[in-house]
Order: sequence, then C-alpha cells, then structure tokens
Amino acid sequence: VTSTDFDALVSRLDPAMVVVTTARGGERSGCLVGFHTQSSIEPRRYSLWLSRANHTYRVALLASHLAVHALSGDDRDVADHFGSLTGDDVDKFAGLAWTPGPEGVPLLDRCAARMVVRRVTLVDDGGDHVCFVTEPVAAESGGPFRPLRLHDAADIDPGHAAGEGSDG
Ligand SMILES: Cc1cc2nc3c(=O)[nH]c(=O)nc-3n(C[C@H](O)[C@H](O)[C@H](O)COP(=O)(O)O)c2cc1C
Repeated sequence: VTSTDFDALVSRLDPAMVVVTTARGGERSGCLVGFHTQSSIEPRRYSLWLSRANHTYRVALLASHLAVHALSGDDRDVADHFGSLTGDDVDKFAGLAWTPGPEGVPLLDRCAARMVVRRVTLVDDGGDHVCFVTEPVAAESGGPFRPLRLHDAADIDPGHAAGEGSDG
C-alpha cells in the first residue's frame, strides 16, 4: 500500500474531532485529537491515541482520568487553540472557562457533549502514537450537533508534529 492511497482513504472517512484533556498533580493538559473511537460494547470501552511528542501524552501517562470533548462545527476556534498551541509553551486553560471533574480533569464549559474516562490499559506498538484504552465513568450527550470533522481542521498547524520526539 502507498501512504498516498492510505492517507486519501482515511481522509475520506473524515473522522470527528475531539479535545482530550487530563490533569495530574495540578498540571493540566489537553490537545486536539482525531484518533479516537469506541472499542468495545460490553463492557463499554473508548480508545484514543496520543502522540509521544505531546505535552498531553506526558501528563496523561501519570493521570488516571481523561475527558473527551466532542467539537461541533461552531468550535473551530477551540480546535485551533488546542491543536496549534502546546502546553510546553503556554497554559491552554488560562482564560478559558473550565470546571474540575474527577481527579481534577478539566471539563471545558464550552463543550457540553463530553465524557470522562478512566484509563484501563495502554497499548504501545512502537508507533508515534500510543493507545489509551479507557472505560467511561460519566457521559453527557448534549443536544444534537454537527461534528467538527478532519476536513474542517486539517489546515491547523499542530503544536507538535507527530514523530518529532517527546523532547522536541
Ligand atoms: C487535525 C489534527 C488532528 C490531530 N490528532 C491528534 C491525535 O489524534 N492525537 C494526538 O496526540 N495529537 C493530535 N494532533 C496534534 C495535537 O493536537 C497538537 O500537536 C497539540 O498542539 C499538542 O498540544 P500539547 O503539546 O499541549 O499536548 C492533531 C492535530 C490536528 C491539527
């Protein structure tokens, strides 16, 4: 398979975008995530993949809980904020309205459709993203909305390029 064909197929699937947040010992972190999906029905499981390069990954490694916030078509500014800035340089939560959830995980007031999940295990296959397999502990579906999709966010310049390494 060529990367070009693979990339074209995956972009046509056009996944919905979410913001994943987490906290550990008063340090908060969060980033825009396109790699996420339900991964078991009984019991419920939700899996998401974080880049080793990201500040969020390093905080999440030490955290028990994560929050997964669905973005709507009106949330492009939220995607920009969490996808183009890095917690290595700025506090993304300064000036944002958020509420602490279980174990201090920051819940973005702006994003009502969200779930809080607890890590069950990690799957590290050596790729540049690591899989966090989680179980939901709370979920709010909010009202109907049109998800913000990859094609709405593909022009965002990520705060860290995948593969640049965790110290990059
Ligand atoms: C369209 C798009 C999709 C992304 N998907 C993911 C993803 O699935 N997992 C991930 O860890 N980072 C993903 N990123 C990258 C992070 O959101 C970005 O590098 C962020 O600035 C990292 O912030 P941090 O260093 O504070 O964690 C994506 C970025 C964009 C623009």
